[in-house]
Amino acid sequence: MQMSITEVNSDNYTNNCKKAKMSEDSLPLHLDSIPPEVKKYLKPFLLSQEKLQEISARLKKNMIQGLGKHTHHKAPVKMLPTFVRATPDGTEKGDFLALDLGGTNFRVLYVRVMEEEQKVLKMDSQICAIPQDIMRGTGEQLFDHIAACLADFLDSQNLKGQTLPLGFTFSFPCEQIEIDKSILIHWTKGFSCSEVEGKDVVKLLRDAIHRRADYDIGSVAMVNDTVGTMMSCGYKDQSCEIGMIIGTGTNACYMEEMKNVKRVEGEDGRMCINTEWGGFGDDGSLEDIQTQFDVVVDKTSINPGIHIFEKMISGMYLGEIVRLLLVKLTEDKLLFKGKTSEALLTPGRFETRFISEIEEQDRGLKNCQNILTELGLKWDSVDVRLVRLVCDTVSIRSAHLCAAALATIVNRIRENRGLDYLKTTVGVDGTVYRKHPNFSDKLQAMVHRLAPNCSITFLVSEDGSGKGAAMVTAVAQRQALSHLLEDSDSDRKEDEEEDK
Ligand code: BGC
Repeated sequence: MQMSITEVNSDNYTNNCKKAKMSEDSLPLHLDSIPPEVKKYLKPFLLSQEKLQEISARLKKNMIQGLGKHTHHKAPVKMLPTFVRATPDGTEKGDFLALDLGGTNFRVLYVRVMEEEQKVLKMDSQICAIPQDIMRGTGEQLFDHIAACLADFLDSQNLKGQTLPLGFTFSFPCEQIEIDKSILIHWTKGFSCSEVEGKDVVKLLRDAIHRRADYDIGSVAMVNDTVGTMMSCGYKDQSCEIGMIIGTGTNACYMEEMKNVKRVEGEDGRMCINTEWGGFGDDGSLEDIQTQFDVVVDKTSINPGIHIFEKMISGMYLGEIVRLLLVKLTEDKLLFKGKTSEALLTPGRFETRFISEIEEQDRGLKNCQNILTELGLKWDSVDVRLVRLVCDTVSIRSAHLCAAALATIVNRIRENRGLDYLKTTVGVDGTVYRKHPNFSDKLQAMVHRLAPNCSITFLVSEDGSGKGAAMVTAVAQRQALSHLLEDSDSDRKEDEEEDK
């Protein structure tokens, strides 16, 4: 039996669904043709191109605020200087360690950067799980765990006697004071270890290593995963000047003109800025597009009010948004004949990977049936199609919001350089971008519409957080180091005047 949601008539939704004869794969979002009682929940997720343009304009203002020496302290989009001033030029070389912390796993890598062949080789790597009790325990426990994983790895590689330089991919918002001094602003993505916010993460790592006293590390470069992603692609394509992650969390970095980076001394050249765009909306500026489901996701998260934009986009939250929608539709008797299941009512049980599986072109409906059965739900073919429509709606919004944010960055780079037309490359990574069957197409099509004067190549990064971190360390070694300027109260007053 085949159907298309476009043929559904609001008076008799179920019967019409059953009569419809279009291809199973054609489920366009023609909301006019779905019943008003379903539409009222889905419509707030559909953002018109005009709305996305408006959102992009808001983000642009926030970005300028974040870059300002005196407006930065109140900016929701932090625009953090990374002290990475150059993308790779192909002359980098050496052996490095890389640590990658940002999701549920922690990785240690041994990486060789080879000048002659312009290659970054991963010699070996090891994954250590981060158990929930460590994610939410004390900072000391977390860093002892990291130091222990590193010790195991060095042992296995016979590297304990060496003091190799280390790239530390720490994918949380950090105020970087210098390349090797980085203060955690706040945790995101389910981490909440005590005694780390406000502290220098490099020092916490070194302290943990010194507590063990069985090995040491050389110079450290702190890297956000977006920066590692940009750098790992930059080795292959030197016009790569943007890094974007759409995975458990979301964020982007890009090369900004030094003269606009008011918090760092110097006017010449460029510096990579970690935008932390996930924080967009933390001042309430996205309330007009937050749905009732987004509000619940935020309120029930471990960090309410923080990273509002991220909570509408990234893998940590998309499944939960879909689950909340499905619960509401079931309560209103629009799904599963009004009968929920314990699994559906359990927060976190509808995983984001289900969305990708349900939206697969050929196997999607079958996958959906299996998933619903596993969740203990009694479904019919109409339910299956409506669940797929819900997944589509939530993932398209995510892709379009990312597109609006990325368009803001490429348009800014173009304007910064006074160009009529910009050709640029974005290094991308993250499970949502990589695994969802049509997320990247949706995102690219919308960026194209929102930034018509830019041609963008998307390069999926090959292990940005590992190899990319080694690249940052290598590039940092050939760059002069600089540091963050202090913001004084008197300066701030002067700037608040400017801001009015
Ligand atoms: C963090 C960013 C990171 C992003 C993607 C966000 O939650 O704040 O620093 O780049 O996740 O991992």
